[in-house]
Amino acid sequence: MPNNVVTLHEKPAVSFDLAKIRADFPILSRQVHGKPLVYLDNGASAQKPKQVLDAISKAYTETYANVHRGVHFLSDASTVAFEKARETCRRFVNAQKIEEIIFTKGGTEGINLVAASFGSTLAEGDEILITEMEHHSNIVPWHFLRERQGVVLRWTPITNDGGFDLAAFSKLLNSKTKFVAVTHMSNVLGTITPLNEIIRLAHEVGAKVLVDGCQGSVHLPVNVQALDCDFYVTTGHKLYGPSGIGFLYGKYDFLETLRPYHGGGEMIETVTKDKVSYAPPPHRFEAGTPPIVRAIGLGAGLDYMTSLDRAAVTAHESALLAHATEELENIDRVKIFGRAPEKGSLVTFAIEGIHPHDISMLLDRSGIAVRAGTHCAQPLMERLGVTASTRASFALYNTHAEVDALVSSIRTVVEFFG
Ligand SMILES: Cc1ncc(COP(=O)(O)O)c(C=O)c1O
Repeated sequence: MPNNVVTLHEKPAVSFDLAKIRADFPILSRQVHGKPLVYLDNGASAQKPKQVLDAISKAYTETYANVHRGVHFLSDASTVAFEKARETCRRFVNAQKIEEIIFTKGGTEGINLVAASFGSTLAEGDEILITEMEHHSNIVPWHFLRERQGVVLRWTPITNDGGFDLAAFSKLLNSKTKFVAVTHMSNVLGTITPLNEIIRLAHEVGAKVLVDGCQGSVHLPVNVQALDCDFYVTTGHKLYGPSGIGFLYGKYDFLETLRPYHGGGEMIETVTKDKVSYAPPPHRFEAGTPPIVRAIGLGAGLDYMTSLDRAAVTAHESALLAHATEELENIDRVKIFGRAPEKGSLVTFAIEGIHPHDISMLLDRSGIAVRAGTHCAQPLMERLGVTASTRASFALYNTHAEVDALVSSIRTVVEFFG
């Protein structure tokens, strides 16, 4: 079985202690509008366990100083903690070298970095192949190259069930395709893309591949060496870490050939009045004081995730998805978008005649947080023939009772609008 496949009907392993996990997340015990919080907006951002909150507090109270440049105790301690977080990120995606991990502000910055650095090597007429199911973060930076450099943007369609159309993709690849940028898991359809085949086919025509792992890395183990992708991007706030931090993986030999993204301190080797030389990766791509404590918090989030039985977590999240799907499709006027056989734990839907913003507002009154809108995926909304939709996205701490609360509130919404 490919390493990125989720089976929907696996049963959670006994080692998965949901009550203990929920107790790790202080916010989950709060009330909203006088009702217990049911947080189903994890695809937008996940809540933080106390292990992450403690790591952030400890970094500020015990080891905080700027990194890399100081010759004093705290700077040393801070540098050690910061670089330890980089090593945790390396392990999380199984990169070969720690130098292949570049800290960024998040998924968006990782993709913009690649578009600016690698993109500067592209010429008019070169082609970039993306897909109809990308988040704007993995569309707009490539549009910049279309607007500014005459690069041609091509779109792999989705299949009618919201899957990745591998046959169409392989037809679109040609000798002009210099780059493929593809999501690991759609933030709207939940579709998990066949990365092994995509990357192999792209490499056959000499194209480099970036994987947007902002959703995929939350739910699936990532092995960049096995995938053989050239870049893998992810973001901390969905991985139970802080917002404003993420990382970009890039193959070292390739990173070494790329221009820097931002200029400033830390990323240079020498600067004179008439020339500048650059530090090797990853520092070449990390100008200025980095997000030190956020990186430490991200490391703690990843440590938290890997301290759990990830197969059991995947099975639990898949069971939540199966439960939600089964219940929602039994409600009249509800239409679910995204029925690909390999799907991560989110469900996006429309209710005929009811605007998604009204749905989410009414659910909010019951303490249920979902997301309504275009989900930063306007080309996909256009393909689906809707202006907006509602999304419930599940995390490792959600329960079947919370899915039941969602379903029951949706039934009430449908009755309310008649
Ligand atoms: C698939 C996908 N890509 C990229 C992003 C952007 O991540 P960030 O907002 O952390 O920059 C998101 C966030 O919603 C996402 O879901």
